[in-house]
Amino acid sequence: MAGEIRFDGKVAIVTGAGGGLGRQHALELARRGARVVINDLGGSVDGTGGSSEAAQKVVEEIKAFGGQAIANGASVTDDAGVKQLVDQTMGEWGRIDVLVANAGILRDKSFSKMEIADFEAVMAVHVMGTVKPTKAVWEIMRAQNYGRIVVTTSSTGLYGNFGQTNYGTAKLGLVGFMNTLKLEGQKNNIHVNAISPVAATRMTENLMPPNILERLKPEYVTPGVVYLCSDEAPTGVVLTAGAGVFAVARIYETEGVYLGEGGLSVEEVRDNWDKISDPAGQAAYFNGGEQTQKFFRKMSGG
Ligand SMILES: NC(=O)c1ccc[n+]([C@@H]2O[C@H](COP(=O)([O-])OP(=O)(O)OC[C@H]3O[C@@H](n4cnc5c(N)ncnc54)[C@H](O)[C@@H]3O)[C@@H](O)[C@H]2O)c1
Repeated sequence: MAGEIRFDGKVAIVTGAGGGLGRQHALELARRGARVVINDLGGSVDGTGGSSEAAQKVVEEIKAFGGQAIANGASVTDDAGVKQLVDQTMGEWGRIDVLVANAGILRDKSFSKMEIADFEAVMAVHVMGTVKPTKAVWEIMRAQNYGRIVVTTSSTGLYGNFGQTNYGTAKLGLVGFMNTLKLEGQKNNIHVNAISPVAATRMTENLMPPNILERLKPEYVTPGVVYLCSDEAPTGVVLTAGAGVFAVARIYETEGVYLGEGGLSVEEVRDNWDKISDPAGQAAYFNGGEQTQKFFRKMSGG
């Protein structure tokens, strides 16, 4: 456990790394010896427009301190672009150890005003824009028997935020993606985790006053992400990070109550609500089967 965490010899792809959080993650990985692919479409916050200039600028910053990086301007939602991202990386460096799926957009509106197109655009970038690069690196990581994947979730997905039904659906979807992928990656030493950041970026610059934004530098999130990219990373964890605070978010299930198979009724559920929702003995599960085991234990009187 002791010693500096390094990435010498490793290759990392960071999506949406042309600015904000992704740029910081990429810079820190490069400072610690990783060869980094800076992917960014270079569009606006709502996902329109695009140029590879943003990615290129970060590459130059990395080269300026002696690090190694290449730029890629593909959209993470584009099948051909994602293939090209992975082919370019393999062509240049022959391996992919780390994927930080960070690219994202916002289309905030209350649900009553939201067009389905705004919902679909946000789902496409966050969900499929994480799934497609992950799918494209998955067999490479399996063949290497090594991989570290970090998906980017949000307090909106975990808890909710007004005007963000599209974003929240997508962001918690990524936790669901992680929950199963961590199981499928286990035997090939592929660890999959999620970061839930809070940071002052162009995404949040209009949401908070300047004195608060000053305390929320994106580089305060990055140590958590880089730890999740390291050999020592856990798997299946949602790390929340911002303003220098780090915590783990978990889904807990209450112990619950066995109401028996005979005579079950709606009223019994109502009358037992205090016991059903009692937090005493609540637990977090590593897979769905653990929940079923609890059901069988309780059914057998345990
Ligand atoms: N800033 C926060 O407080 C906060 C909170 C929770 C989650 N997040 C998440 O963190 C991630 C980074 O956001 P940020 O705050 O740094 O915002 P940002 O807008 O600065 O960064 C997002 C980057 O993704 C890029 N991008 C967008 N669509 C893309 C696509 N299709 N292909 C490739 N690149 C694309 C953008 O060009 C941009 O550089 C996002 O997933 C965001 O949802 C941020």
